This record gives sequence, structure tokens and C-alpha cells, in this order.
Amino acid sequence: MTVIVAATANSHKFEEYKALLGSEDVELHSLLDYPGYTAAPETGTTFKENAAQKALDACKYCDRPTFADDSGLEVTALNNAPGIYSARYGKDDADRINRVLRELEGKSDRSARFVCVIAIAINGEVIETFEGVMEGTIIEAPRGENGFGYDPIFVPEGESRTFAEMTQEEKNQISHRARALKKALEFIEDEMSVLDDEFDL
Ligand code: IMP
Repeated sequence: MTVIVAATANSHKFEEYKALLGSEDVELHSLLDYPGYTAAPETGTTFKENAAQKALDACKYCDRPTFADDSGLEVTALNNAPGIYSARYGKDDADRINRVLRELEGKSDRSARFVCVIAIAINGEVIETFEGVMEGTIIEAPRGENGFGYDPIFVPEGESRTFAEMTQEEKNQISHRARALKKALEFIEDEMSVLDDEFDL
């Protein structure tokens, strides 16, 4: 049984990861299992830099193979804001949603995308990063109770419901996080024997 740490203290993200991983060979821990750990402030200028920083930092603390994600919403008409500042765009989810809606008032282009970059760190080294993107549209007013963050205002491409109106399973079929994790899992599967030899997992 390999213990892998998902370097997040966000219980919503952790639940999504647990549902996505679903492997009996892997036990997934989160930072909630390491209450003494304090995450360093995010100082990167890209999702990739932030994901790598989070994975490396947590890997060094937990001494386990670790993966971390950095994710956010890019709105085309707002020059891709809030982007890496998605979690810091207001005091809570409702405030952040209202800010995006207010800033989009009067703009005809409501296209947006969720981006997720996952970084994997083993033995104090970032070994790879993976990106997942889900394109979509920002609607005029929030709809739905599921999910988290900007889910109530985001309708993914090819859908009429927001992420917050879908079940977790439905969101997990298509989400940016699922897409990035799928690539990461394919890499781990392909490279597992090499990683095993190299890092003695
Ligand atoms: P992070 O924890 O630094 O990656 O911040 C990600 C932020 O982006 C979250 O706090 C949300 O505001 C937003 N976000 C990322 N993924 C999602 C998602 O799947 N649904 C809704 N909001 C998301």
C-alpha cells in the first residue's frame, strides 16, 4: 500500500480527489492528516509555479510522495482574472462570485475556463507537472448548491447546467481537476516501476 499525500487542506478538493483515485493500492492522505504543517504563502506567478511550490514544500514536510494542485478560473473579458488569485478574489465564495459578475456587467464575451495544474514531488524533488482545462461560460446569476468556489456561475462547454447543478460524479467526468489528475495517473502508471526503483516507494 503506497501512501500518497494530496497537499490540500480543502476538504472539497480532497473529496474530489478521493473519488477520482479510487485505487486499492493507494491510500490517500491530505494535509488535514498533518495538523502541524503550515502551508507557505503562494508566491508563484503561474499555476505551475504555485503547484510545484506546494507539492515540494508538503513533500519535504510529510516525507511521502505528494501531489499538489493549483487551480482557478480564467475569465477572457477580465484579462484572464481572477486566475492564480481565484482563492483571494474576495472574502468568501459569495463575495468572489459577486465580484466576477459585477466586473462582467455589460461585457458580451462571457467565456471562461477552469485551469488545474498538478505537480508531483517525490523525495524532495518535483518530478512532473500536468495541466487540465475545462472551457465554459459565466452565467448572469448563480445556480445550484453542489461543489464549491465559482461552480454556481460556471456552465461547462456542451452543458446547460452549472457545475453546482451537477453531481460530484458528473463534474468529475469533465472537470479541469479530473483532466489533470488523469494525466498524472497515466504518468504514474507508466512510470511506476521506474519510480519504484529510483525512489524506493
Ligand atoms: P487554490 O486552492 O489556490 O488552487 O485555489 C483555487 C481556487 O480557485 C478555489 O478556492 C476556487 O475559488 C477556485 N476553483 C478551483 N477549482 C474550482 C472548481 O472546481 N470549482 C469552483 N471553483 C474552483
